[in-house]
Amino acid sequence: MTIGVIGAMEEEVALFLEEMETEQVEEYAGIRYHRGRLAGADAVVCKSGVGKVNAAICTQILIDRFNVKAIVFTGVAGALHPDLDIGDLVISTSCQQHDMDVTALGFAPGQIPFQAVSVFPADERLIRLAEEAARRAADVKTVKGKVLSGDQFISSSEKVAELREKWEGVCVEMEGAAVAHVCYANRVPYVVIRSMSDRADHSANVNFAEFTKLAAERSCAIVREMLNRW
Ligand code: ADE
Repeated sequence: MTIGVIGAMEEEVALFLEEMETEQVEEYAGIRYHRGRLAGADAVVCKSGVGKVNAAICTQILIDRFNVKAIVFTGVAGALHPDLDIGDLVISTSCQQHDMDVTALGFAPGQIPFQAVSVFPADERLIRLAEEAARRAADVKTVKGKVLSGDQFISSSEKVAELREKWEGVCVEMEGAAVAHVCYANRVPYVVIRSMSDRADHSANVNFAEFTKLAAERSCAIVREMLNRW
């Protein structure tokens, strides 16, 4: 069974690519797919690029061309939950697009028009594997909850309060809900694992620059541990 592992940026996949026994590299739609053995599992690792469209392209290609049976998204995010500090971990229970807004036509905030599901549940087994991996791999606080995604880098306390109040998101990033939506449409299980690089407030840009490497390494460590026990 082949597992797809996606990160949006170089820092988020670099460690995997260093340690992976790569058998083949293929390129589709400008994304390079590294197929091989990673932490004892058959895996395809790729860097999707930033944002929901890139993440959606990447996910559909993993499913269609590589026949992956599960997808794990790893990377960094901005913390929304008050208990979360920089470096702490989030495991998705679901994902939603916070920038989907058709309220002018009477749809609820975040609701995708004419579609039954707008909050995409993560896979129970993958959530459990991620929790166990987090316990073994790192002594960091882990919060489970809804991951919010949008094509925006969030850097204001007002927006953080809004994202908490409207959707009860635990963290915010730019890809998870797109991966989740594509996985839902194809009935492929997924989970998103994110380490906090910032608090999505006025210091977010500075924190992001400083802490992304550390946070990405933490997220990678959990995924590696997950694959070990697959
Ligand atoms: N990824 C990491 N930090 C983020 C933020 N503050 N907003 C959106 N995506 C992020």
